[in-house]
Amino acid sequence: MCGIVGAVSKGNKNVLEYILTGLKRLEYRGYDSSGVCMLSGDDFTTVRAVGKIKELEHKLHDTHLSSHIGIGHTRWATHGKVSEKNAHPHIVGNIALVHNGIIENYSELKDELIKKGREFQSETDTEIIAHLLDMEYQKGKDELKAILNTIKKLHGMFSLGILFKNCPNTLFAVKCGTPLVAGKSSDTSFIASDVYPLVEYAETYAFLEDYEIARIEPNDIIVYNVKGKKVEKVFNPLNITGEELSKGGYKYYMEKEIHEQPQVIVNTIQDRISASRDEIIFDDLPLSKEQLRQIKRICIVGCGTAWHAGLLGKYYIEKYARIPVEVDVASEYRYRDPVTSKDVLTIMISQSGETADTLAAGREAKKKGSFLMCICNKPNSTMNRESNYTVFTQAGPEIGVAATKSFTSQVSVLLLFALYLGDVVGKLDKKELKNILEELVKIPFQIENVLKLSDLISETASKYLKFRTFLFIGRGVHYPIALEGALKLKEITYLHAEGYASGELKHGPIALVDNDLVLIAVCPKDDLYEKSLSNIEEVSARGGSIIAIGTEGDKRLEKISDVFIPLPVVNKDLMPILEVVPIQVLALNVAVKKGTDVDKPRNLAKSVTVE
Ligand code: AGP
Repeated sequence: MCGIVGAVSKGNKNVLEYILTGLKRLEYRGYDSSGVCMLSGDDFTTVRAVGKIKELEHKLHDTHLSSHIGIGHTRWATHGKVSEKNAHPHIVGNIALVHNGIIENYSELKDELIKKGREFQSETDTEIIAHLLDMEYQKGKDELKAILNTIKKLHGMFSLGILFKNCPNTLFAVKCGTPLVAGKSSDTSFIASDVYPLVEYAETYAFLEDYEIARIEPNDIIVYNVKGKKVEKVFNPLNITGEELSKGGYKYYMEKEIHEQPQVIVNTIQDRISASRDEIIFDDLPLSKEQLRQIKRICIVGCGTAWHAGLLGKYYIEKYARIPVEVDVASEYRYRDPVTSKDVLTIMISQSGETADTLAAGREAKKKGSFLMCICNKPNSTMNRESNYTVFTQAGPEIGVAATKSFTSQVSVLLLFALYLGDVVGKLDKKELKNILEELVKIPFQIENVLKLSDLISETASKYLKFRTFLFIGRGVHYPIALEGALKLKEITYLHAEGYASGELKHGPIALVDNDLVLIAVCPKDDLYEKSLSNIEEVSARGGSIIAIGTEGDKRLEKISDVFIPLPVVNKDLMPILEVVPIQVLALNVAVKKGTDVDKPRNLAKSVTVE
């Protein structure tokens, strides 16, 4: 959730610019406060600010702070309110420290430290690490030993960046649970919570593994394990371009990411479909076709948008492969002592590959013998490393907190995987396979067409800006899109939105309907169309306004709607990929018109690496 950066350079090169750029690139992770600490001469200079990184920049403006070594942090509060005092870095004695994660035994440790006479400046769990480290360091002035002894006392998740006053040319880093990457250029070494800060600064990078400690010097990075033994690290070339990180001419990352969806789907599916469009390629899957035929059940876990993608995965897999699928919110799965075994395939879905609950759910399944697969967007993420098999969505960096292109790419992978399973277990007719693949490869063009509806959607956003409640409904494959629509709208506009299966309307939510309610109905022409149409009429009759997302040319739906958003005719199972696009654009437009922070909505973080 929080983001950490640090750098140490040769000679007099000032690393503050890297630290600030890095913090801005990590701001999507958490952004309620931030801070930097630079070591110059034999003293620390620390500047902290509440609010976004630009507040920190303002404060730094007149300080002329400059040093060849420093650390920085962007915070998403867990322990202690949002305040300057709780912002990192935390300084205790000879130590300055930034932390990403949660220390679970912090209150016991804090009590012990208070008994030993330690006084605390903040309400954070992080400050106890700084105290413990300071105490250990005082014993022998051995930095590595002090770190090793300190981390043995900590339970929980912690990536750390550490400065010691006595080490003007060395930065230390620790990784446990939350991600940390180290990078090198010819004269500077870096750390960061993910690779984005390193782009255009570092030439090579390596992710640290749990319980690894790095001694970071301008010309060298030495990594140790928890026993203090050196570990060989391979540093790979960093080949993400700055262009990939920028907004590419759009005003918001979310806007750019919505428009990238056609290309992202091409990138995600192209190597998995044969040129003749009659075969799906999962030749990297380390399970033989015979082993796949032995699978009795599939369990999908994820959070938020990824969970919605999982719900679609259930429809697809059960339809095409006739294998029973359960889909669970990862935070529920992990604690309910799930029944699983080696004939169950567990699939984690995650954009970041770092979401704490999804990871814990996957670990639980793997521990109980299930084969663990992961659909994720980040190579080298923890989920990627811990899974038996990863399918990468090729969405590229997704910076906007609201997931957009990661969702459509996850859905594309799930559909392909369902078709592949259907083919392997012999439940899917070759002709049907070919038909749907022929249509899938055309979907990127259809998304382009849907994006042309932006003006209609912008007008719709203006029209309903002041309404009180937004109810999204859908049936079958359209139901997860109703859930996703409500999530998208509420997370970036702060409006009250709910997603329901259309059939559930009469079981409660219809009581909400009045002149202040907008119903957003996902209702294309399919086998359940008539039923959904009746639901819409019931809401309309009670004074609700109707925005209908349907099939182009559908005059009946158009007639009963206040706004009709027409989508091209495609295979029913591909409709969700198109339906979600106008919903994303609607949420974006409402947010822009309301003036909320589209890319960094309040209280949220892009990567939820703590519970
Ligand atoms: C969606 O817009 C969210 N911001 C959120 O629900 C997200 O999908 C969820 O936190 C899961 O993240 P992940 O895909 O990185 O695991």
